[in-house]
Amino acid sequence: MPQTQLGGFDCGDEDLNNFLLEDAKGFLEKRIATSYLLVDEDNIVAYFCLLNDKISRQDITNSQWKKIKGGYPESKRFGSYPAIKIGRFAVSSKYRGRNIGTDLMNLLKGMLNNNPNYSAFRYLTVDAYLSAIDFYQKNKFKILSEKILNDHTRLMFFDMLELE
Ligand SMILES: CC(C)(COP(=O)(O)OP(=O)(O)OC[C@H]1O[C@@H](n2cnc3c(N)ncnc32)[C@H](O)[C@@H]1OP(=O)(O)O)[C@@H](O)C(=O)NCCC(=O)NCCS
Repeated sequence: MPQTQLGGFDCGDEDLNNFLLEDAKGFLEKRIATSYLLVDEDNIVAYFCLLNDKISRQDITNSQWKKIKGGYPESKRFGSYPAIKIGRFAVSSKYRGRNIGTDLMNLLKGMLNNNPNYSAFRYLTVDAYLSAIDFYQKNKFKILSEKILNDHTRLMFFDMLELE
């Protein structure tokens, strides 16, 4: 990817467009986030980026934490559990509504699920735009954080054990 032309991508959201153009390479070089592109000839159809994360007791409400913790036996109840964050996820406006987002999400899940031995993680997390919550719910993500006034994202998660 370091040599890939990143201009011309438009998903209708300035932040997501600019990240690809201005930040993706630097984030890769500094090992802050790794971006993956879906390319059709010269067009970038979609992209996402990944970084390490965790779901921690202090980041969510007690009742939500109980649900997470409830999935573990007593001996494996810790203050946080490992996750991988989807830092950005976008499909070009030209290719929207053709199930590409869902196909790419399934590819991402499968890719991570097939490499479980490098470093363990249990959840995928994402700070979902309010407008994209339906998309993530259709892809079996659940809401983890309460709605915060003026906040334009909600923390959502997918349990990798659902793939088994
Ligand atoms: C959200 C996004 C990635 C979905 O990509 P896509 O390829 O259009 O999604 P799909 O075609 O796989 O859609 C799957 C389902 O989710 C629904 N969906 C997709 N985007 C949606 C949105 N923004 N709001 C509500 N529902 C949405 C579709 O209607 C479809 O439902 P159906 O199966 O009942 O028809 C794309 O709309 C996008 O890039 N949006 C702008 C950037 C963004 O919001 N990214 C998320 C950042 S957290």
